[in-house]
Amino acid sequence: MTHGAGAFSFGERDLEQIRRTTFVQTVEHHREIESTNTRATRWAEDPALALPALVLSDVQTGGRGRGTNRWWSAPGALTFSLILPRINSSDEPSWLRISLTAGLAVYDALQQLRPGLQIGLKWPNDVFVQRRKICGILAETSPRAPARLVLGIGLNVNNSLAAAPPAVAATAISLVDAVGYRFDLSVVLTHVLRQLAEQLAALARADTALASRWQELCMLTGHRVQVDAGQRVTVGLCQGIDESGALLVDTPAGRELCRSGVVTTRGQEESAHRA
Ligand code: BTN
Repeated sequence: MTHGAGAFSFGERDLEQIRRTTFVQTVEHHREIESTNTRATRWAEDPALALPALVLSDVQTGGRGRGTNRWWSAPGALTFSLILPRINSSDEPSWLRISLTAGLAVYDALQQLRPGLQIGLKWPNDVFVQRRKICGILAETSPRAPARLVLGIGLNVNNSLAAAPPAVAATAISLVDAVGYRFDLSVVLTHVLRQLAEQLAALARADTALASRWQELCMLTGHRVQVDAGQRVTVGLCQGIDESGALLVDTPAGRELCRSGVVTTRGQEESAHRA
């Protein structure tokens, strides 16, 4: 719990501590930036950059989500991007596994910070608390730095959704809204980074325990879902997530393995943040 500036911004000591106590080798901190992912995809082109590198901003003015979605974040949100050596190849299931693994890391960090919180993973790249979106993940690479991965994470921490645009407020939540008190952002970030180091290492060694966990935590399992993937729309009963990261949907024509798309459940609007 905090009442200080650490609920809204990072100081030099926080940054030094992140470098000392996590797997991050290089940190770039901004008071304000358009998008940490945009900055990180450019910075990834520097071959001399010591990895993992972290781009962190107190405020993002043009945060990006999947596709054309925007990411709304007011002061108090955690918005950062990690530049990592590339894990696996660029094929779609691999991207799915990376997003799901990062979601798992956020899940475990939130459990540590507030045991008992009702958390779920929403395929393919969201973390939900109390059935509302608290975190979005955007994995990208720059064509000019194909050997590097940019992993962007937006986590609503001290930014109450009461101040959000109505469409966002209707579907999202922040940690302060869920538990009623503020957190020190650097404490939350440190927990997430430590979990990411652990879970991404497990992914790199193809640890099969990861798939069991995202199957167990998939909040769509047992729900009727619609997966919109451009031309292709799949409607049916969700049976969880397989080891490749695909969403399993039982339709009247048989089981479909969805590897991309936006999922909605009956009566639920699209969960991506739209500003
Ligand atoms: C989504 O919900 O579709 C993904 C949202 C990802 C948002 C984060 S915030 C930090 C990083 N910078 C961005 O511009 N986007 C990601």
